[in-house]
Amino acid sequence: MRHRTGAELAKIPLFEKLSAKQLAAVDRLVTTVDVAEGRELIRQGEAGREFVLVVDGEAEVVRDGEVIARRGPGTFFGEMALLLDRPRNASVVACTPMSIDVIDRHDFRRLLDEFPELYGPLLEATAQRLAAIDEST
Ligand code: CMP
Repeated sequence: MRHRTGAELAKIPLFEKLSAKQLAAVDRLVTTVDVAEGRELIRQGEAGREFVLVVDGEAEVVRDGEVIARRGPGTFFGEMALLLDRPRNASVVACTPMSIDVIDRHDFRRLLDEFPELYGPLLEATAQRLAAIDEST
């Protein structure tokens, strides 16, 4: 298992506006986990319990049995159910071995309370993802 440092977190576009001190606070909330290829990380329709950042490897976003996106290093997923308080709107499956950073829903909330500047990029991603789903239906 590889632990991500604050300096590495700084390279993630979502965190680009955070200071070194703020990044260290994010780093303390993160648990890095290795997952095997084929593992379902999120199941469509379930309640959201965590937010995920991709460290290494790739995941497929699958909605109603169809692959709608791929998520690679430096990207994130699992924000929609937590932000909107709705069930997961897609499944996310590791399509290679992966290393992921997991933040539990309560810590995610605390992070947003502490660093409201994160709302901008998170809500933008949510809006774009909803628009992509809307266009495909
Ligand atoms: P959530 O609904 O919590 O769980 C499934 C996740 O898949 C969702 O959050 C987003 O992070 C991600 N997701 C859903 N739709 C898309 C999309 N069109 N493009 C990229 N990611 C998506």
